[in-house]
Amino acid sequence: MRIGGESASLLLVGAGKMGGALLQAWLDRGLDPARINVLEPEPSDELRAIAARGVALARPARPPATLVLAVKPQLLEAVAPILTPLTDGSTLVISILAGKTLASLARHFPGPIVRAMPNLPAAVGQGITAAVTNAKVSPGERRRADALLSAIGRVEWLSDESLVDAVTAVSGSGPAYVFYLAECLAKAGQSAGLPPDLAARLARATVEGAGALLTHRSEITPAELRQAVTSPGGTTAAALAVLDGKDGLEKLIADAVAAAKLRAQELSS
Ligand SMILES: NC(=O)c1ccc[n+]([C@@H]2O[C@H](COP(=O)([O-])OP(=O)(O)OC[C@H]3O[C@@H](n4cnc5c(N)ncnc54)[C@H](OP(=O)(O)O)[C@@H]3O)[C@@H](O)[C@H]2O)c1
Repeated sequence: MRIGGESASLLLVGAGKMGGALLQAWLDRGLDPARINVLEPEPSDELRAIAARGVALARPARPPATLVLAVKPQLLEAVAPILTPLTDGSTLVISILAGKTLASLARHFPGPIVRAMPNLPAAVGQGITAAVTNAKVSPGERRRADALLSAIGRVEWLSDESLVDAVTAVSGSGPAYVFYLAECLAKAGQSAGLPPDLAARLARATVEGAGALLTHRSEITPAELRQAVTSPGGTTAAALAVLDGKDGLEKLIADAVAAAKLRAQELSS
């Protein structure tokens, strides 16, 4: 994968969980460390080890081609005045700050802006990021953003920023729903008589394996995969009859996603 042009310089602000995953993925994919500056108030040992490969933990001397914002959203107002003088109108700003709209980012940065919403599996290169641009982003800048964000997984481009709250509710918060499913399955296994550690291992491996099947059999829909393991009158059918009941899993998930979307709208600024 090619990330940026030969002269593309990059400033990463905030190298915590998500910023750190991005930095590691860029370097793994061959982005030249000498082109990267990172601002992070208290660099971890891990970040210092990465920096030893040639990344500068300091302000850049010239405005970078790309600024990636990965601090906590509530810090935007505090860091923006420091960053504005470090950038110019041609700096492409990529923000992964949850809830920070293109309009609020544009109050600090006059040029092209990409608002992106990644998710936690980015930490293992299996994230899904939805992204939207403001009107100042050129096709080339969008390709640059796509290459940078693709380092941590897949990228979906949105044509309408109003979809970001629903994206947050589905893929942004979604990994927690799946972890919760694994927890519930383990508890149910215990209730069904299994030793707790065995129930936990079975539940975890089942979620992992089902996820891997979704990946490796991407031509088959989740519903088809489910139907393929559900013999009429069998054990899976007995369980699904419960999950499918009135106020069952479909309604619960729909209500959960609606609640997350509403909260995302409330937190958006
Ligand atoms: N984690 C996710 O699954 C996820 C998903 C979607 C979007 N996001 C977004 O990603 C962003 C980062 O989240 P995260 O989970 O990676 O948080 P995080 O681990 O807390 O990372 C934020 C980093 O920014 C650093 N920082 C604080 N003040 C700074 C400053 N003035 N200049 C430069 N860096 C500064 C923090 O350092 P200290 O720890 O020393 O304060 C920390 O290392 C958030 O805006 C969040 O909305 C995260």
